[in-house]
Amino acid sequence: MKKTGWLRTSVVASVSAAALTMGMSATAVAADKGTVSVLNWWTSGSEAKSMHVLQQMLADQGYKMVNDAVSGGGGSNARTVLKSRIQSDNLPGAAQIKGPEIQQWCQTGLTQNIDSVAKAGNWSKILPGPIAKGMQCDGHWVAVPFNIHRINWLWINKAAMKKAGADMPTDWPSFVDALKKLKAAGITPIAGGGDNWQVATEFDAIAMATGGADFYRKAFVDLNAEALSSDTMAKAFSRLRTIQKYEDPNGTGLSWNHDTGLVVKGQAGIQIMGDWAKGEITNAGSTPGNEIACIAMPGEHDGFIYNADSFEIFSHTKSDKAAQDAFAKTALSPKFQRKFNMAKGSIPVREGVSLKGFDACAKKSEKDFKQAEKNNALVPSFSQDMAESGAVKGAIFDVIARFYNDKSMTPEAAAKQMASQAKQAHMMSQM
Ligand code: GAL
Repeated sequence: MKKTGWLRTSVVASVSAAALTMGMSATAVAADKGTVSVLNWWTSGSEAKSMHVLQQMLADQGYKMVNDAVSGGGGSNARTVLKSRIQSDNLPGAAQIKGPEIQQWCQTGLTQNIDSVAKAGNWSKILPGPIAKGMQCDGHWVAVPFNIHRINWLWINKAAMKKAGADMPTDWPSFVDALKKLKAAGITPIAGGGDNWQVATEFDAIAMATGGADFYRKAFVDLNAEALSSDTMAKAFSRLRTIQKYEDPNGTGLSWNHDTGLVVKGQAGIQIMGDWAKGEITNAGSTPGNEIACIAMPGEHDGFIYNADSFEIFSHTKSDKAAQDAFAKTALSPKFQRKFNMAKGSIPVREGVSLKGFDACAKKSEKDFKQAEKNNALVPSFSQDMAESGAVKGAIFDVIARFYNDKSMTPEAAAKQMASQAKQAHMMSQM
């Protein structure tokens, strides 16, 4: 299905205009079999490089992919742009949407069924069960997953630790000990705390290490009031307070990728962040697992908090159906899965793709994922939209931010608020 020239021009023009006003990058590659515009929030160096892999692979097949990227870690700006594009009748061909929001968008009637692509590609066999389920709505495939990211990581500059005389942490006390030593050596112990999304990401990792997978699921997936207001949750908040003491007080407003850069340069010792940080580490010429160590967030419990980036496909769009199908098909090809995930820091979501040539941290991620799957310790990330939809996630983020910004708030009060705010937001979203 090929659209007329003016339609295609208008897609490219509107994206370019938006890119100029919002400071984002939009690249178009010449092709004539059709165009797909792709709304996403991948604007850091490694993220843009990863998207370019897809753009090039589509161009090689004769399709043009307009990379409609909106800056803002975690995607809050991109979500606003998506909503405004409905109003201006300019929906993208595909948009980065994850977790339960996939189902919500599907209910609007604006998404497109990609069953034929999924069937031809045997998606129900090549994807892990829970991920395959999340890409379908009312029995139809509406979204395509790209990867599996892990959230609960520490990225540690080994040389900075050596300089400070600190050992690699193995539990919470040794983690705090390392932070003390880094501080005494004049190195910012933790790069982080720039915005609410970053702080929520830190809290995500802390909650899992403190309470474990069953606690995590009860609290953030089931929204069980007892778990949300529990002593364990209060303990996680008190640990966040400890972390905060070791962050740069002038770090507000700094992006997650800037913070990764500080760790790579040894200006900060550690970052608590999902493994998209690994993409930046590699992009900066360092090797994850060598100069920069990766260890799971230490605490009393192991587990794997996952985040699968995915793209929902839209109907009522100026993009061409053939290009949308090619986009979805190419994203799950073994070649793309290797090239993209190597650059992005994640691991392939398609099963059976070789990790030959991937760094040691990717290999550890895959091993830990499988282990967690066996031990029932695999949980969907609340901070990355995998566990709850917008309103509930927003309420949880608000409580974490309030606690972080108000040093007089006690961990117990924060845990109580977490339960009441999440319940209220959940009730409102059901009305
Ligand atoms: C997450 C996304 C990751 C990464 C990060 C920072 O929401 O899933 O892939 O890009 O935001 O932008």
